[in-house]
Amino acid sequence: MDTPVFAGDLTKIYSEGKVEVKAVSSVGLELHEGEMVGLFGPSGSGKTTLLSLIGCILRPTSGFLKLYGIETNSLGEAALPGIRKKFISFIFQGFNLFPALTALENVMLVLKLKGVEDNAEQKAKEMLDSVGLADRMHFLPRDLSGGEKQRVAIARSLAADSPIILADEPTGNLDQGNGRKVMELLKQLATERKKCIFAATHDNRVEGIFDRILYMEDGMIIREKGGHA
Ligand SMILES: Nc1ncnc2c1ncn2[C@@H]1O[C@H](COP(=O)(O)OP(=O)(O)OP(=O)(O)O)[C@@H](O)[C@H]1O
Ligand SMILES: [Mg+2]
Repeated sequence: MDTPVFAGDLTKIYSEGKVEVKAVSSVGLELHEGEMVGLFGPSGSGKTTLLSLIGCILRPTSGFLKLYGIETNSLGEAALPGIRKKFISFIFQGFNLFPALTALENVMLVLKLKGVEDNAEQKAKEMLDSVGLADRMHFLPRDLSGGEKQRVAIARSLAADSPIILADEPTGNLDQGNGRKVMELLKQLATERKKCIFAATHDNRVEGIFDRILYMEDGMIIREKGGHA
């Protein structure tokens, strides 16, 4: 049995003055290489909070979190950016591209941050080519469609080459055709490159593409469909 890329049991309570919100409540979860897992649930059910915990953007109120068997709870804040860089990349609904950089520069930036100096431009071009954007490399984000921007974000995940890709509503701003294309590219990363894709979505149209689906309500996983063999 392979070591899960992620294993944890997570609780997150937000405190706003006197009000406490239990956004994620004892969610036990394992994620494996090569699987594409969907996280469905109504607004406010805790999906973004759970992704942020797995991605070490938020710290859990209690519980534990292991990435490739490494327990991260005991690590100090200073270690978290390094952990994130090594294990995690994010794809958001809002595309999170640098507006002043072209598609190519956005991808190259990630390679440079990873310390890839050799042939960074060539590698970035190949990544954009693989998501079907060979003819859009020198466009700024503002001149790309929503689907194209999301594909640049996927090319950046390719550049980051992290084992876990966390996607929060990746098709949220896209029409059906572009939404499907984006999900198929993510699926390809899971099957061909053994990435673990964990995607929160409201989008029932893409349900069929997941290997496994978790349904979340009131901070808890209430149901699961599919499963890891
Ligand atoms: N920073 C915060 N401080 C206090 N409460 C928060 C904070 N972020 C989220 N919450 C609360 O935690 C709960 C879960 O929010 P979360 O954003 O994780 O839900 P979600 O499932 O991603 O919703 P959506 O589908 O609308 O994106 C909500 O009740 C929300 O109001
Ligand atoms: Mg959300």
